[in-house]
Amino acid sequence: MAEYVGLEADDNDNCDDPGYDSLDIFINRLFFFETIPQQTKDLEPEMVYYQKTPARAVFDLVESSHLTTADVFVDIGSGLGQVAFLVHLLAGITARGIEFDPAFCDYTRACAAELHLSHVTFINRDARQADYSEGTVFFMFTPFRGAMLREVLALLQRESLRRRIKIITYGPCTAEVTGQSWLERLTPEEDSCYKSAFFRSL
Ligand SMILES: C[S@@+](CC[C@H](N)C(=O)[O-])C[C@H]1O[C@@H](n2cnc3c(N)ncnc32)[C@H](O)[C@@H]1O
Repeated sequence: MAEYVGLEADDNDNCDDPGYDSLDIFINRLFFFETIPQQTKDLEPEMVYYQKTPARAVFDLVESSHLTTADVFVDIGSGLGQVAFLVHLLAGITARGIEFDPAFCDYTRACAAELHLSHVTFINRDARQADYSEGTVFFMFTPFRGAMLREVLALLQRESLRRRIKIITYGPCTAEVTGQSWLERLTPEEDSCYKSAFFRSL
């Protein structure tokens, strides 16, 4: 990837900075409608407001996670859909998003229709009530914290009893996921939480 877009995602050592750069400006122009929706539902205390994963981290994720056409990628807390769209376009696999805010979901569905991307779909649901039975690779850019995060991790653990799954995290939720005994962390622990961390179920 560095050959095409310069600096590697791993070059960011700053935990206060999610790591946006010129690749984000390029991707913004490529994909999305000019009018970005506002959040319409009040978030519960442990829910995290919308902030997108830097495009470079998504490129890094696709390059490092050995996705196959049998994989189904799920972005938990999919916001405006950039991660699901990029993963589908870069890896050619089915991608889903689960998002709490209906306005974000309407927007991402409209983007998918506009781009004729029928293998990228979005479900407007609280992640605690979502169906994870199809997914094999789950992504979280800290959509929630605390008990809510642990509740969703317990749902994923249940899925892992049926098939091996992978989880990729970005941001502060990585620490909680690292502590899960049913997961093996595949990437070394880092000083910055703004480096993708890869896990697989045991
Ligand atoms: C940090 S943003 C990440 C957005 C997206 N994954 C990306 O990287 O571009 C967190 C998202 O999670 C959503 N969210 C928060 N709590 C949620 C829940 N319980 N169920 C589903 N989505 C939730 C928020 O509305 C927000 O869009």
